[in-house]
Amino acid sequence: MKQFKFPEGFLWGGATAANQMEGGFYEGNKGLNIADVLPGGKERLSILQSPGFNFEIDRDKYSYPNHEGIDFYHRYKEDIALFAEMGFKVFRMSIAWTRIFPNGNELTANEEGLAFYDRVFDELHKYGIEPVVTISHYEMPVNLVKEFGGWRNREVVTFFERYVNAIFNRYKNKVKYWMTFNEINSGLIMPIMGLGFSIQKEEDKYQPTFQAFHHQFVASSIAVKACHEMIPDAQIGCMILYAPVYSYDSNPKNVMYALQEERFFNYFCADVQLRGEYPAFINRFFKEHNIEIEMQDGDLELIKEGTVDYIGFSYYMSRTEIKDKSDLENSQGNLIGGVKNPFLKASDWGWEIDPEGLRISLNQLYDRYQVPLFVVENGLGAYDKVEEDGSINDHYRIDYLREHIKAMAESIEDGVNLMGYTSWGCIDLVSASSGEFSKRYGFIYVDKQDDRSGTLERKKKKSFFWYKDVIASNGEKL
Ligand code: BG6
Repeated sequence: MKQFKFPEGFLWGGATAANQMEGGFYEGNKGLNIADVLPGGKERLSILQSPGFNFEIDRDKYSYPNHEGIDFYHRYKEDIALFAEMGFKVFRMSIAWTRIFPNGNELTANEEGLAFYDRVFDELHKYGIEPVVTISHYEMPVNLVKEFGGWRNREVVTFFERYVNAIFNRYKNKVKYWMTFNEINSGLIMPIMGLGFSIQKEEDKYQPTFQAFHHQFVASSIAVKACHEMIPDAQIGCMILYAPVYSYDSNPKNVMYALQEERFFNYFCADVQLRGEYPAFINRFFKEHNIEIEMQDGDLELIKEGTVDYIGFSYYMSRTEIKDKSDLENSQGNLIGGVKNPFLKASDWGWEIDPEGLRISLNQLYDRYQVPLFVVENGLGAYDKVEEDGSINDHYRIDYLREHIKAMAESIEDGVNLMGYTSWGCIDLVSASSGEFSKRYGFIYVDKQDDRSGTLERKKKKSFFWYKDVIASNGEKL
């Protein structure tokens, strides 16, 4: 059997986001963020995909699972002890912007929020676990959405700058791995979560979307420069949603179509954040759609100077495209579309399972950018069953992760510089796209159900013990 090798110091761990796990909704002066106003259940997806969302809470109609999350806010010690037991080297988490600046536009940071993350980072360091921190993970203050129009408003850049300065200054000795915007390119399909506004029914979506992106690129560069100045021994990356795009067949027209989709979705943001300039292909798109980006003097220089140090990316699935989809069945995965790939099986949520696609992604990204890569999300959302004896035999998750880890090892042999791997939802949490608890990713089961019942008790799944061995053997024992 082939022996897989990972470099010394490979960063094994797990990934989460504040809004999907913390709870503590009313505590520590936290303000309302976007995830707080998104209902749970099937309605969430249709809200995310339709225009005209009002960012209001309507308790008569909906429930809001993110308000309680899995109560990490109170149980972080217990959870971090479990991560340490698995041998995590790193833990990816996000800081909730609204714990630090509850409305986003205050002049001074909220001490209670800052103190909470001090406690979390200290607890991680107690076990030698390095935090990997996403600065903004679908958690923009709702006040900035309602009063300012989200990222389409230039003023938000100033508020974001205040926020990053506050957290860099406070945590400069505690956090050495940062990422700016989670899955920044997801704003192309879900502006509500990524860009902080909902397209209005009558408006053309492209102009505000790309204006908002420009502001995020400027904000990202400001954050990168500040990080390099304030924490010279830290690294700061971008974070993109990556799904390699395959042509359904070898018809050159379909191959070109797949390439265009690939560049538009996978590379547009990464090109700006890595190469420091807008890619040539987007100019044609801007021209054809009459998009004119308003820029201030110095923006392009700033973007050039503030390029990121590494690429963090999520990988769940590939995507298969064909120009004329009419005779083919659509694929459901992760809101990015495409048609069903006849060679792949899918998860219960329709996300196609494609470990080889991870090797392809790693090679494509490394060929294009030549900077270190970090797989900061990957995993299988599945229904788990607690047996009568309390055990949870999630062998399907182990199979999924094993094949993806092998694909990473192959890519390392291919010559890719891969820093680490944090599998998504290392502890069960609220699903981002569907607001469900039943879509579980964790090594650790949390007793919380879609109807909001449950004790929140934590249980180790079979995959917990498996991942512990993977880390202890540095990927040799799969
Ligand atoms: C990524 C997000 O899109 O995928 C996470 O960064 C999200 O926030 C994860 O939870 C899995 O998606 P979902 O919808 O199954 O939770």
